[in-house]
Amino acid sequence: MNLRDLMRKAETLSDYMTALRRRIHQNPELGFYEKETCALVRKELSSCGVVLAPLEVEAGVVGLLQGRGPGPGTVTALRADMDALPIPEKTGLPYASRNPGVMHACGHDGHVAMLLGAARILSETVDAFSGTVKFLFQPAEELLTGARKMIESNCLKNPQVDRLVAVHGWPDMEVGKIGVYPGPYMASADRFEISIQGAGGHGGYPHRTRDPIIAAAHTVLALQSIISRETDPLDQAVLSVCTVSAGNAFNVIPDQAVLGGTVRCLEGRVRADLHKKIRRVAESTPRAVGCEGRLDWTELVGPLVNDPETIRMISEVGEAVLGDGSVERLPGPVMGSEDFAAYLEHVPRGALFRVGLKGAGCEVKPLHQSGFDFNDDALPDGASVLAGFVLHFHGS
Ligand code: NI
Repeated sequence: MNLRDLMRKAETLSDYMTALRRRIHQNPELGFYEKETCALVRKELSSCGVVLAPLEVEAGVVGLLQGRGPGPGTVTALRADMDALPIPEKTGLPYASRNPGVMHACGHDGHVAMLLGAARILSETVDAFSGTVKFLFQPAEELLTGARKMIESNCLKNPQVDRLVAVHGWPDMEVGKIGVYPGPYMASADRFEISIQGAGGHGGYPHRTRDPIIAAAHTVLALQSIISRETDPLDQAVLSVCTVSAGNAFNVIPDQAVLGGTVRCLEGRVRADLHKKIRRVAESTPRAVGCEGRLDWTELVGPLVNDPETIRMISEVGEAVLGDGSVERLPGPVMGSEDFAAYLEHVPRGALFRVGLKGAGCEVKPLHQSGFDFNDDALPDGASVLAGFVLHFHGS
């Protein structure tokens, strides 16, 4: 199929994808509980001849589609995430969430619909490509642990994936455009918890206690100086203390204080260095005021590094499918995280691109807000670029 015709083909699937997207939007499910979404995905994939591969992850789906065209047996994986967020929806839409307190506020409903649209296009054009397409529908991206579960159950093997592509909706960009960024694009995310043990007592007699709140206050400030004084200003890094908990009476110094937070950076080298420095501060700062500090460190996901060659390929397809000038370079990296990064640690030849959601005259709320809704006009754009990637690069 001519890549120019692909957009027309995707547009004929517009109603199909919109109906799927709204149905998923109405029935959002949290990470690792994507039961109904998976059932819908399995049904749609099977109905267009995609073979379901065995997978140990109950809340995930892997589909395989074999090309029948002449050429090498390249394996490309296309990935969508399926989970919603614990946010009460306030869109007032007729298809608003029926699951109280849970909504699709990051557009993963749109990602699923676009990938199912791409699967349908490719299933009707199997003679036009060689090799294999692997459709990865993963749970729990928002928890940053779903991708890892999929990898542990061998979703990248049998057959081994050569290249990986994913798409994410982007409210800052117009419909009809896609956004790309080569190299480190999204930050790693790690979680820390610092428990500070003191010895509590009467608020009127602080000299008879070892005050963990003073230790916690010093520790928060010392943590911030790791970024401002100990990190190369040219290395991007963020350290945020997001929870502080201690005490429950105005006149009692508690025994313990606990700090929690997150660290984000764009390079593994910086990430390892920050871990070491945070441990030093967590243990030594409380000691300076007579308390004991202990660090618990949880590695969530590494930086998302887009392979420049794959970005070039996506751009080429984007220009051909959506038209000249429809591919934009995104402004700089962002300090949010995306667990697609975990796949790229195993298959470095891969990339994530953005699809524009901003419509003419219609405001699209930012991601992760209670008023957000994926713009259905963008569904054919994402589906056609995903399908076009395979049609353009598989086979002769
Ligand atoms: Ni998301």
